[in-house]
Amino acid sequence: MKRVTLIPGDGIGPEISDAVVLILEEAGVKIDWDIQTAGADVVQKEGTVLPERVIESIRLNKVALKAPVTTPIGKGFRSVNVALRKELDLYANLRPCKNIDGIKTPFNGIDLVVVRENTEDLYAGIERKIDDDTAESIKIITRKASTKIAKYAFEYAIKYGRKKLHAVTKANICKLSDGLFLEAARAVAQDYPEIEYKEILVDNLCMQLVQKPQQFDMLLLPNLYGDIVSDLTAGLIGGLGVAQGANIGDTCAVFEPVHGSAPDIKGQNKANPTALLICAINMLKHIGENEKAQKIEHALYSILSEGKILTCDLGGNASTTEFTQEIIRRLH
Ligand code: NAI
Repeated sequence: MKRVTLIPGDGIGPEISDAVVLILEEAGVKIDWDIQTAGADVVQKEGTVLPERVIESIRLNKVALKAPVTTPIGKGFRSVNVALRKELDLYANLRPCKNIDGIKTPFNGIDLVVVRENTEDLYAGIERKIDDDTAESIKIITRKASTKIAKYAFEYAIKYGRKKLHAVTKANICKLSDGLFLEAARAVAQDYPEIEYKEILVDNLCMQLVQKPQQFDMLLLPNLYGDIVSDLTAGLIGGLGVAQGANIGDTCAVFEPVHGSAPDIKGQNKANPTALLICAINMLKHIGENEKAQKIEHALYSILSEGKILTCDLGGNASTTEFTQEIIRRLH
């Protein structure tokens, strides 16, 4: 039986993890879940938010499904998510974004893929207070990481028949750091003449995305812009409740939704498990369980396309439990 690390996270994490594990079980998927807790809940007992056992478990199993973990804002410990990506060198953050039948949005025909560099930029966590009134954050961009993520994006484009890639920066202002990211992307683009290579500034991209998102196919971004833009693109197709993601490295893959721990709806049985379920479907495909993945996919998308039983974020009034039970009913 395949062993997969499961990080249930916190906030709505445990609710949506329970829902997804149940759905997979009911679909007949045989997985030996290696459950690993992380975040604020483990600090008191283990003295760290990301115990070594979590990293070791993923290193050993090579694949993980991860629900969101809270990071305190403006104070407190460093993000578990950022640390995990760095520790395991999960250098590519992949966030495909495509309209889902039945989910009404102002736009149709969106089918784009966001590829976000996942290990450096302002997320390197190098910050200091110079004095009471001045703080400094250092933005690290290296040729090595930029080349690696660009190669990943172009290889993905070839593998999945994509046609066009925009490298996204603010290189007019961050001339050296974003300039280096662009230099690396341009150099890699030379090796892939079959993919149309373009460049765009991130502010212009945001405007274009909310006016004519259909013009974009693949977006390649440094970490911070990628984080922000992928929430924007999630909004284009129905919001964070349906936005999938994956963190990919050379040896391990961690599948996790774009959304966070949603403390505002924690414990209310309101959370939409769709994003985590799509991540689990992708994880199943990744480990070769294609048939089961398709079975779950079919049940999920049939509910969404009918639009009758939907969670609050999608304009419905179904609870997490009702939505989950409806998926299970359709599996049988
Ligand atoms: P958030 O994504 O948790 O929530 C933003 C809004 O979307 C909220 O109104 C929330 O209710 C809604 N939402 C999110 N997921 C939903 C779902 N599955 N179903 C229905 N509604 C959903 O973003 P926020 O509030 O900025 O962050 C909360 C915490 O999550 C922070 O501590 C942040 O650091 C953390 N976070 C963790 C991530 C991870 O573990 N990968 C990613 C993003 C944020």
